[in-house]
Amino acid sequence: MPLSNKFGFIGGGNMAEALIRGLLAGGVSPTAIIVSEPAPERSDFLKTRYNIRAAADNREVIATSDVVILAVKPQVWGSVHPLLSDIVSRDLLFITIMAGISTATIEAPFVEKIRVTRVMPNTPALVLEGASAICAGLHSLPGDLELTRKIFQLIGKAYVLDEKLLDAVTGLSGSGPAYVLTFLEALSDAGVKQGLPREVALGLAAQTVLGTARLLLESREHPALLREKVTSPGGTTIAGLHVLEQRGFRGTVMDAVEAATLRSRELGKQ
Ligand SMILES: NC(=O)c1ccc[n+]([C@@H]2O[C@H](COP(=O)([O-])OP(=O)(O)OC[C@H]3O[C@@H](n4cnc5c(N)ncnc54)[C@H](OP(=O)(O)O)[C@@H]3O)[C@@H](O)[C@H]2O)c1
Repeated sequence: MPLSNKFGFIGGGNMAEALIRGLLAGGVSPTAIIVSEPAPERSDFLKTRYNIRAAADNREVIATSDVVILAVKPQVWGSVHPLLSDIVSRDLLFITIMAGISTATIEAPFVEKIRVTRVMPNTPALVLEGASAICAGLHSLPGDLELTRKIFQLIGKAYVLDEKLLDAVTGLSGSGPAYVLTFLEALSDAGVKQGLPREVALGLAAQTVLGTARLLLESREHPALLREKVTSPGGTTIAGLHVLEQRGFRGTVMDAVEAATLRSRELGKQ
């Protein structure tokens, strides 16, 4: 059964577009989606490409929706909320995807005890393969988390967590695509060094990461067990793994996630 809510977007950028595509793929009617986007060309593009409604301003989104997705850049939020304070109500669920802004910060300027959930998605959401973590605000209703989870499952995998863990999520899956891309670049460069054509090396590297991730998710086995299956005694893979262990590959990855988590925590305090 498609979701029967009326969805509104404040901000019509990349993430909003990914969610719009997810909602439409999930069977939501285009007439149930409205977006407020200040750049006229972008607003027209979204309207004609997806057949959805374009709002004159953010207030129209609030007035005509029951789920409002806050998809502007975090630094813009301070100029957006003062214009909405007289029309927000508990009939609305706000879903914020703004990186680093807590549910308490969203709730604070409003007299009304607004319902908020917060989501940390990542860029593969743009191809409907995102990884998102979701948490609830102080005044959200019991069904709000579940509704948010259903929405974000339309653009990938979604996990419900405590808000205090969202910095770790930022360090892992938020920044993760950049780590994976760095790994992919290194893997394909390595192939080129060994004589493979650039295009073939990149294709092999990307498909290897994609296929291995799928194998892991579908088999539900521990990565160590799957690795053992492809590591024959005295073979090629153990020779390669030995070098990764010698150079501290795993420790480096753990340090990277830790550094990004701490940075997210720091930025959240500012
Ligand atoms: N992209 C990611 O991977 C990712 C991951 C996690 C979280 N997020 C969060 O998702 C949010 C959106 O990211 P994004 O990548 O989609 O950014 P984006 O492409 O820059 O989208 C933001 C959109 O909001 C519009 N906007 C600016 N001021 C506005 C206003 N007053 N009212 C309504 N719309 C306004 C912008 O229009 P103009 O361009 O004309 O200013 C732009 O189209 C951000 O808060 C980000 O932190 C993104």
